Amino acid sequence: MATVSGLEGVVAGETEIGLVDGEKGYLVYRGYWAKELAISRSYEEVAYLLWNGHLPSSEELEMLKLEMAAARAMPEYLCRIVDLLPASVPMMLVLQSTVAALGEQGNATWPPTLRQAVRLTALLPSIIAYRYRRLKGLPIVEPLPELGHAANYLYMLNGQIPEEAHVQALSAYLILCMEHGMNASTFAGRVVLSTESDMCAAVCGAIGAMKGPLHGGAPSEVISMLADIGTKERAEPWIREVLDKGGKIMGFGHRIYKTKDPRAEALKIATEEMIGKDPSFDVAIHVEHTAIRLLEEYKPGRRLFTNVEFYAAAILQALELDPEIFTPTFTSGRIVGWTSHILEQAANNRIFRPQSIYTGPMPEGEF
Ligand SMILES: CC(C)(COP(=O)(O)OP(=O)(O)OC[C@H]1O[C@@H](n2cnc3c(N)ncnc32)[C@H](O)[C@@H]1OP(=O)(O)O)[C@@H](O)C(=O)NCCC(=O)NCCS
Repeated sequence: MATVSGLEGVVAGETEIGLVDGEKGYLVYRGYWAKELAISRSYEEVAYLLWNGHLPSSEELEMLKLEMAAARAMPEYLCRIVDLLPASVPMMLVLQSTVAALGEQGNATWPPTLRQAVRLTALLPSIIAYRYRRLKGLPIVEPLPELGHAANYLYMLNGQIPEEAHVQALSAYLILCMEHGMNASTFAGRVVLSTESDMCAAVCGAIGAMKGPLHGGAPSEVISMLADIGTKERAEPWIREVLDKGGKIMGFGHRIYKTKDPRAEALKIATEEMIGKDPSFDVAIHVEHTAIRLLEEYKPGRRLFTNVEFYAAAILQALELDPEIFTPTFTSGRIVGWTSHILEQAANNRIFRPQSIYTGPMPEGEF
């Protein structure tokens, strides 16, 4: 029996939810190109698709919007739990603590339900915004039911009705974060659920996996890079200097995608809409072209292209989101994928139980 480091290439199950094909640059959600959904559909429409397997009719969409808007208000006891957590507790652990505490509200049942998935998804941005504003000493902004999910998130964070271009850009980002195959957090969620645990426990497991920098790694390093480069003229010498020293250019290359990351392409379109006229966008585009050319020169044949982090950085910066909520924001998109996988796991469950190879000493003598 051989071990496979990081389970690379091991198939852990079948899914109808999403396809990631790194060679072809495909990202498919339930039979639709994710990049097209991101620029043409709302957060609620794509969430409905991932949960139910088909796009909603107008009545189904209206029902989901109403259900999500009604589930946004923070229960009083959840506010108290957040307030009791010391300011030094990272936001991802605040999310884990509050999702665990929600197990009380009929959310800790077997089998898990779609209603639980919808409620957790609707509530996550409220928890993030509540904690964020509390830590900044700002008054809490109550959710506005007439706003869609993405618009309401920005509203609760900033206290102002957001511009349409900002809503569309955030919505595209959240949609592209929703699903990405058997990644570490999705797998963690499915493993927890496979013990016939519950929706809250499984989402807590997934949040724990997402917290690590190797998974939910923030695009903040791309932001520092673009700030450091500053002007088009500095791009080539700056990138050459990093590559000469054997360093990595942030926002390029991917473990799975060996062609253009489809999420980067869709985010580029969404970014263009939002900040297309901004000179900083011009610099970012120039950095992208220069980096791809120089990466081919320094690392020929490695097929290094722009990844999702590059344009995520551009969008999150233009939205003026605090870097400390980048990973939680990513999480508020990915929760749709997690809960879809949790429901799929429950529908055809078998407990995960891989084996290990013992490499420790044996006791002395015969048994
Ligand atoms: C994402 C990443 C970790 C994938 O790593 P990986 O699958 O292990 O990539 P590989 O090690 O197969 O890379 C192949 C070669 O390209 C180089 N390379 C990969 N990404 C690079 C980058 N961004 N800048 C410079 N060189 C890079 C590697 O050093 C390696 O060179 P070598 O063959 O001379 O040793 C890597 O591309 C990276 O660190 N990118 C920058 C960080 C980033 O943007 N992360 C967000 C990912 S969504």
